[in-house]
Amino acid sequence: MRKIAVMNQKGGVGKTTTSVNLAAGLAMRGKRVCLIDLDPQAHASLHVGVEIVGDTPSVYHAFAGAPMAQVKRLVAPNLWLVPASIDLAAAEVELADTPGRELILRESVSAMLAAEQFDYLIMDCPPSLGVLTINALSCAEEVLIPLEPHFFALHGLSKLLETTALVTRRLNRKLRVGGIVLCMFETGTRLAADVSADLQAFLSGSDPQAPWAKARLFNARIRRNIKLAEAPSFGRPIFDYAPKCPGSLDYMQLVEETIAMEVPALQLAAAA
Ligand SMILES: Nc1ncnc2c1ncn2[C@@H]1O[C@H](COP(=O)(O)OP(=O)(O)OP(=O)(O)O)[C@@H](O)[C@H]1O
Ligand SMILES: [Mg+2]
Repeated sequence: MRKIAVMNQKGGVGKTTTSVNLAAGLAMRGKRVCLIDLDPQAHASLHVGVEIVGDTPSVYHAFAGAPMAQVKRLVAPNLWLVPASIDLAAAEVELADTPGRELILRESVSAMLAAEQFDYLIMDCPPSLGVLTINALSCAEEVLIPLEPHFFALHGLSKLLETTALVTRRLNRKLRVGGIVLCMFETGTRLAADVSADLQAFLSGSDPQAPWAKARLFNARIRRNIKLAEAPSFGRPIFDYAPKCPGSLDYMQLVEETIAMEVPALQLAAAA
């Protein structure tokens, strides 16, 4: 199974749109997917039509010790959601004095996986490098970075990669940056082409020991498309809301590229 944290500390770059549509597309392709909403804004939950009211179990309760298996719910065929709510904002403060607070999610997920298998775990991170994001990075094996191609994108990227390297050293040796996906892409603009080229050059020239040495720049470019911005308010992934729009086609390409990265079981057995 693959555990993917969708992360970028910058706000509004397409993390949630990517998490939800990648999860939904993989589920449509027959994969068993668990989407974990780690953002107190709960946008991923709302995007799949779930709003937490009152004391309904959410990821906050999993951080407080409730079994994740009891928090998750089926939202579409093959697609489970561990929802978030605004309560999660309190977790940052409440966990401040808890020893091992960076590993709570990993332990909770391991307990769930002991009883039930998934092909993909997709974690939607909040726009910060706080304890919730660190929990996602401690639990994940791959980081997927959505990036909006503009002049400052590469500056933010280096901070993000440093954080990943730190987590790799201290908390999770298995963590690697799997890929970068360009979101809100303006086809045909000089800037978008320049940023893509700079990014490709940066990745090809990186230290082979760095956790991002094998990161790929996805061929799928998620174009700016109004349907992608409309879909959340209907609580539906793009494939359901507007299956033929450019946003749907772009995310399906990302889904196919993601599946193509799966290491065949035979290859794994040979390497063992
Ligand atoms: N390719 C796109 N075309 C048009 N609108 C988009 C696209 N991708 C995302 N959006 C819209 O842009 C806004 C920000 O996207 P999204 O919520 O996915 O970003 P985010 O990185 O998760 O934000 P946050 O940091 O607040 O969690 C949302 O309103 C979303 O619907
Ligand atoms: Mg988000």
